[in-house]
Amino acid sequence: MNVKLLKQGTQRALVLGKDFPLLVRKGDTGKEKLVYLDNAATTQKPVAVISAMNEYYTRYTSNVHRGIYPLAEKATEEYENARLKVASFINADARETIFTSGTTESINVIARALEPMIKKGDEIVLTVLEHHSNLVPWQELAKRRGAHLKYIGLTKNQKLDLSMARKLIGTKTKVVAFTLVSNVLGTVSPAQELIGLARKVKAYSVVDAAQAVSHYPLDVKELKCDFLAFSGHKMFGPTGIGVLYGRKELLESLTPVLFGGEMISDVSLQGATWNELPWKWEAGTPKIAEAIGLGAAVEYIKNTVRVKVRGSVDMEEYLHELFLYARVKMVTVKGLEIINTKQEEKLLNTKQAPIITFTMGDIHPHDIAEIVSRFGVCIRAGHHCAKPLHHILGVSSTARVSLSVYNTPRDIDCLVVALEKVRKVFSHG
Ligand SMILES: Cc1ncc(COP(=O)(O)O)c(C=O)c1O
Repeated sequence: MNVKLLKQGTQRALVLGKDFPLLVRKGDTGKEKLVYLDNAATTQKPVAVISAMNEYYTRYTSNVHRGIYPLAEKATEEYENARLKVASFINADARETIFTSGTTESINVIARALEPMIKKGDEIVLTVLEHHSNLVPWQELAKRRGAHLKYIGLTKNQKLDLSMARKLIGTKTKVVAFTLVSNVLGTVSPAQELIGLARKVKAYSVVDAAQAVSHYPLDVKELKCDFLAFSGHKMFGPTGIGVLYGRKELLESLTPVLFGGEMISDVSLQGATWNELPWKWEAGTPKIAEAIGLGAAVEYIKNTVRVKVRGSVDMEEYLHELFLYARVKMVTVKGLEIINTKQEEKLLNTKQAPIITFTMGDIHPHDIAEIVSRFGVCIRAGHHCAKPLHHILGVSSTARVSLSVYNTPRDIDCLVVALEKVRKVFSHG
């Protein structure tokens, strides 16, 4: 562990924490400071995001792309500005950046849009790491078209097995869809290799970047993926907004799946033609305040979290140190078993998102989460919408700690005190 980096990062985390109103207030008990360690579920929102949305609602509420009065023009400008910010954040063209309600909707839309390309006997390659959002839409598509699903498994080090991927991805493969970062293990997928394998056989590549987006810079041009999806609420933005990136030629050639106002170029009683990109894929009144909030979140990440001034700590490096710190502290709790990155020595220096998934013997994860919450500590318990992965790991549910840039070693210390309490509660009888 790099103690100096941990200390310097802590100072910055404390400063960043002041931007998040909920972290400053008292915890639910009224006594404890809130210790928020459920960032993989959703992150807290900084004032910049809340203010941007508030401003839309209090100063220029109106619909976009329709009105020709100043208020509506302002709303349209801010909405489209948000798109430009988000597009530049992932190195995409604005025409390739579609606003959706979140990762789930993005993946569903793409699975629907690709349906005509899938025929009986085709194969869709997924991984065993997938969140249900990147699993069920493909299962349903396979059912509708008579296609087969194939799953890339894990090595004993809980990494995606690339040699298996090489065997599975072949001429019958039409789609390769995978998560960039596992929400249970924190494993980072070998994206370029998987996308390269898909390209070789002319299969569509779909990247679920829901967990990656807040931690790692995303560059769709470098990745060379066909589609990529993420949610605003996991990157300091509001709920109800997400992004579907699609390669321009594909978004142009595919038929949209949602139809209605604003996505058309012309409509007659006989039929309709589609608007230009990106609006072809955004039917109806869009999520205006949410998109503006997401634009503010992107700016916050770029200009506050990831800003590189001389001597400033890289917050991802800090989070890795905090992750190591948390592991060391958590295993001091008797009976606590960390499920992810088990083969720690080998793995800890490889890229790994700051997620720690654990069990405590027979104690149900819901009991763990409930008891630690009495100390103002928020963690997740359950199967984390990744039931098949839990099955493979041999557990039905787990508890999960996931870190973000405002977390500090003190948060971990509070967690450990609370976990000790859990152990004590269940040590009788
Ligand atoms: C890896 C992964 N994919 C997809 C999703 C779904 O995101 P949303 O519920 O925001 O659509 C999540 C949410 O936890 C996730 O962790």
